[in-house]
Amino acid sequence: MARMRAKRHIPERLEVCHERWFDAPMLNKGKWREKCGFPEDAKIFLEIGCGKGKFCTETAPKYPDVLYIALERDTSVILAAIEKAHREEVPNLFFLNADAGLLENYFSEDEIDRIYINFCDPWSRRNKPKRRLTYRAFLEQYKVLLKEHGQIHFKTDNDELYDFSLEEFKECGFALSELTRDLHNSEWDKDNVRTEFEQKFADQGIGIKRAVASL
Ligand SMILES: C[S@@+](CC[C@H](N)C(=O)[O-])C[C@H]1O[C@@H](n2cnc3c(N)ncnc32)[C@H](O)[C@@H]1O
Repeated sequence: MARMRAKRHIPERLEVCHERWFDAPMLNKGKWREKCGFPEDAKIFLEIGCGKGKFCTETAPKYPDVLYIALERDTSVILAAIEKAHREEVPNLFFLNADAGLLENYFSEDEIDRIYINFCDPWSRRNKPKRRLTYRAFLEQYKVLLKEHGQIHFKTDNDELYDFSLEEFKECGFALSELTRDLHNSEWDKDNVRTEFEQKFADQGIGIKRAVASL
């Protein structure tokens, strides 16, 4: 199998799209709306682990008044997402190259209206459950940053991760709704935007699981 080559010229390519990301994003904590040129009452939707950006570049235009921020820890992966948003000229989409475990360095209490977690790495329940982005330590962090009545929109292909996540949401005080194990044949499919991984799993005939967890 051919080895994937590391992306070349990352700094130069990021520089071309400089209006999409920030040199010192910690300085945006509590000020994302102001820094991105949005009114004080604009909503903020944050996608965690955005991958190459199919979901965020297709979702942000559906909510033109919302400030959409896509977070991804892998620089070469987020570069693909940033370049896509730049090419497609999505005006309300900005990027944060950071680890989800450090969100509190970048956002203030009650700053975020909605979080999307799409097809996060399943890790094994036996070995590394604490790395799951729906593990309770992550959920407790999201709760601080989410507004009252804030929501997490969660999708996965993985049954075991889905069951685990529903338990974690409940344990952390979230109310669950819009539950399905077959999103593409459900009433919620008409508004659904498929991610890169979602398309890959759907092509293999795997049912897509979804839940909305609300405070
Ligand atoms: C399986 S991929 C899914 C990508 C995309 N959401 C999709 O559905 O096509 C998971 C992504 O989450 C990113 N990721 C995993 N853990 C993360 C963390 N702690 N903080 C930020 N990004 C993370 C990975 O680098 C990877 O790009």
